[in-house]
Amino acid sequence: MTDHGEAPPGSSAGSPRPAPSLGARLARRKPVEQLVAESGKGEGGTLRRTMGVSQLTMISIGATLGTGIFVVLGQAVPKAGPAVIVSFVIAGITALFSALSYAELAGTIPVAGSSYSYSYATLGEFVAWVCGWCLILEYGVSVAAVAVGWGQYLNELLDGTIGVTLPQALAGPPGDGGLFNLPALLVVLLAMAFLLGGARESARANAVMVGVKIVALLLFCGVAWQGIRAGNYAPFAPLGLAGVSSAGATLFFSYIGFDAASTAGEEAKNPQRDLPRAIIASLIIVTALYCLVAAVAVGARRWQAFEGSEAALAGILKDVTGQTWWASLLAAGAVVAIASVVLTVLYGQTRILFSMSRDGLVPKVFSTVHARTGVPRANTVVVSLFCGILAAAVPLGQLADATSIGTLFAFALVNVAVVVLRRTRPTMPRAFRVPLSPLFPLIGFGLCIWMMFSLSAVTWVVFGVWLAVGLVLYFAYGMRRSRLATATPSSSSAQR
Ligand code: ALA
Repeated sequence: MTDHGEAPPGSSAGSPRPAPSLGARLARRKPVEQLVAESGKGEGGTLRRTMGVSQLTMISIGATLGTGIFVVLGQAVPKAGPAVIVSFVIAGITALFSALSYAELAGTIPVAGSSYSYSYATLGEFVAWVCGWCLILEYGVSVAAVAVGWGQYLNELLDGTIGVTLPQALAGPPGDGGLFNLPALLVVLLAMAFLLGGARESARANAVMVGVKIVALLLFCGVAWQGIRAGNYAPFAPLGLAGVSSAGATLFFSYIGFDAASTAGEEAKNPQRDLPRAIIASLIIVTALYCLVAAVAVGARRWQAFEGSEAALAGILKDVTGQTWWASLLAAGAVVAIASVVLTVLYGQTRILFSMSRDGLVPKVFSTVHARTGVPRANTVVVSLFCGILAAAVPLGQLADATSIGTLFAFALVNVAVVVLRRTRPTMPRAFRVPLSPLFPLIGFGLCIWMMFSLSAVTWVVFGVWLAVGLVLYFAYGMRRSRLATATPSSSSAQR
């Protein structure tokens, strides 16, 4: 027996094994040692360990800092007024508790599947599948939503610099006033080209882009600072606590991605030490920037004037300086910023599917690694085409809002997984430990659930439909093909 209290696959060799009950199949867990032993191994090749702590931090910042601050801030201010700063703090605290849990598990189980793999080790295959399915909302669907935001800023940039905008037919999907969103497809294909070149090359390109977006936001603060009027901060919370928390739930989107470093667990040089550092450092940097930018933005423009404004930050610079080129400069920063979100989130999605495929829950093509580049090539192409076409041809509407609910659900599971692993494997070496466990993970869990309930009923319906589709796929495919289900005595021992 493993110390999970379960028989390892194939342990009853020699005697006919009774078919496991449905409950036992859904609850089967993958031992941590097995997850770690398989690290890096794909079909036909292995992933390469090339990333240090700064690149891992940049991956998390790259995946986090983007549409949320450049676009979603403008939608959140009318809900909360100047207290949107507090909304950012609330969303940041929710993210922080979960980040601590991510840091502990990423340091203990440093594999590419992130919360999917943590759930597999602690809560069983069925919950792991649900978590992985939610991660597809967090990563795959959000890439598409983010790519759409990229197109809007590209148009702003083209307009401000050469006075040209893309024809509406090429700037939106059918049902959203266009035929096809060409920029959204292009940015995903560009990210795909980087990813196919190798993880190290993608991480370098991302680091440059992260530098550009931080400079762009600091520049915004430096310039818009002159426009701050004390009167703009009053009344501070015109729509009360309900407004502040509703804006917090909307702004949670801007924190999605801090966990992206945890998908690089099999390509990090020293994952046990560096993943916890990267996750926490990225969250602190991003939260500080968000609060600073929000404080300057609502100080420089009356909160009511945010209603209906697209590209709010660029608009503020235009108002404060009376010149359009500042806005164009910021739009250029946003174009780079959002492209780096697409790059890193797409990367994360390919690595999560890589893990799920290695476990047999999705087809093998996702874990085939190109021997020369060490990149899961077919996986990268399939995921990119899927996300690119989704972004270009489907009006995402509520599906985009649903990314937050799916992410919150995955985060809630990570908090539970910390508590479970502390009980089932108390002596396991942990490079980082959540302070005051189980109190902090339980607070993290509670905050995620509270935020989920702050989202609209429509979002819940979309989430329910998404989960229902996931369940059908699991019972039709994953449950039968799972490596834990199909492992023979010899193959299972070979796996370890
Ligand atoms: N947090 C990411 C963004 O704001 C998804 O673009």
